[in-house]
Amino acid sequence: MKENRETTGRENWSGRLGFILAAAGSAIGLGNIWRFPYITGENGGGAFILVYLLCVAIVGLPIMICEITLGRHTQRNPAGCFAMLTPKSSLLSHFLGAGMVLTGIALLVFQSYGWGIAALVLGALVFRKSWRLVGIMGVLTGFLILSYYSVVGGWAIGYAVKAAANQLSFDSMEPAKETFVNFVSNPLPVIGFHLLFMLLCVLIVYKGIQKGIETACKIMVPLLFIIMLMLILRGLTLPGADAGIRFCFTPDFSKLTAQGVLIALSHAFFTLSLGMGAMITYGSYLGKDENIFGAAVWIVALDTLFAILACLMIFPAVFAMGFEASEGPGLLFQVVPAVFHKIPFGPLWAVLFFLLLLMAALSSGISLLEVVTAYLVDERKWPRHQAVVLSGIVIFQLGALCAVSLGDWEAMRGTEKIITACFGGAKASFFDLIDNLTSNWMLPLGGLFIALFTGWIWGVRKAIEEIRHGSKNFADVHLLTLMAGLKDDPSHNGGTHPLTLATLWGIFIRFVCPVAILITFLHTIGWLNLTP
Ligand code: TRP
Repeated sequence: MKENRETTGRENWSGRLGFILAAAGSAIGLGNIWRFPYITGENGGGAFILVYLLCVAIVGLPIMICEITLGRHTQRNPAGCFAMLTPKSSLLSHFLGAGMVLTGIALLVFQSYGWGIAALVLGALVFRKSWRLVGIMGVLTGFLILSYYSVVGGWAIGYAVKAAANQLSFDSMEPAKETFVNFVSNPLPVIGFHLLFMLLCVLIVYKGIQKGIETACKIMVPLLFIIMLMLILRGLTLPGADAGIRFCFTPDFSKLTAQGVLIALSHAFFTLSLGMGAMITYGSYLGKDENIFGAAVWIVALDTLFAILACLMIFPAVFAMGFEASEGPGLLFQVVPAVFHKIPFGPLWAVLFFLLLLMAALSSGISLLEVVTAYLVDERKWPRHQAVVLSGIVIFQLGALCAVSLGDWEAMRGTEKIITACFGGAKASFFDLIDNLTSNWMLPLGGLFIALFTGWIWGVRKAIEEIRHGSKNFADVHLLTLMAGLKDDPSHNGGTHPLTLATLWGIFIRFVCPVAILITFLHTIGWLNLTP
């Protein structure tokens, strides 16, 4: 680890715990606490959670390992990583480029102009840039996600302030909803809080890897866990809470749609911070003697734990108090104050909760900002401080547009019509557009390409060589030996076994992950129909 720092001049994590907490901090965020409960509510509960867990295990974990490996091997940001590993010419990327151009033409024929033009432009770019595009797209995705993520982070600050001013004591749905809608559609304060959130992100990333990001996460992640446990206890002891538990854990597959499966898959990417190279960037600061398999399992497990905890926190209260489970993005902001209303010192707890929500959002926001920063530092040779501040300013401006687009703002009326006309469907704002585009399309697409690239271009063999550093014989013992806990038993780990973690992972990266993502995509576009 030390050697790395001296030879490349790159800062590293202080060690295993630092990396795991920082990566878990990136993964655990608004995705778990705010987004997961409301999409679970909209998609029918238990069955959706099951599909989501499947997506995490089958697609999330292998790609998590893949991204960390790519990062540690190249010691670069995503764009630099792909620029370094892309071969001179690649038949697969030409093939993909041509496929996208054809898809674009087909979409235009079906009069889906927005998506059609997007596919055409993307296809042409794939042709020119080949795999380098995956890294560039990753940096761009990080940029876009942070712009609206920061707006929601700002809502958390706003709600903390409201709670402190004791403006959040409702015991029924109507006033809770009204307060939320009024709050988000009033642009000026929302932009102010969004600015504050961006400032905090910039401040932490400005301080660097160990002092900034690592320290912040080491404090925030454990604190978050404790306060969530307390909230869960309160929710569970409300009369009528059992309906909420049943909603989460009794799967009713008739409520699950194909759209729901896509949402589960794309959420798996979103919540694990995958598909755009955040984990490539974090992995690039990881020492050679750390165990990648072990770290990845920890990160994924912690993230899943927090998602389930969030559901346990929200749904018992939702049902006990007669809220709608399918309330949408406002769910968390409406339910939590109502729960706090019912306990002694309610406003105090509410302030604490929204501050912690803010921390969860911050520890994720900084990972997005770090990707953009690392790109500017590695590839454009900017000084780190300049890179952080300038990208912060530009992202703030884009985010301000997102914030305004949710309000009743004269100037945004036109854009809303254009967006709705181009991309069809329900009335969409700029905020919805960026959210939908990045999380439902760019992240799974990025994940698909990262898996294809590692499996078929860079090669599983080189990846496994990288993984072997620091993993002792983890990668190469027979799976049964590993499960039985006989990994270090001398009579069990001689020779070469066909069924090891290494081979299993290779098969997932080459076949299972790409096929799973492709099927989901084709289903969404409507070119494949598996529902009976
Ligand atoms: N995973 C975070 C969450 O659940 C959000 C996030 C941080 C993210 N970095 C990312 C999402 C990179 C996608 C890609 O809130």
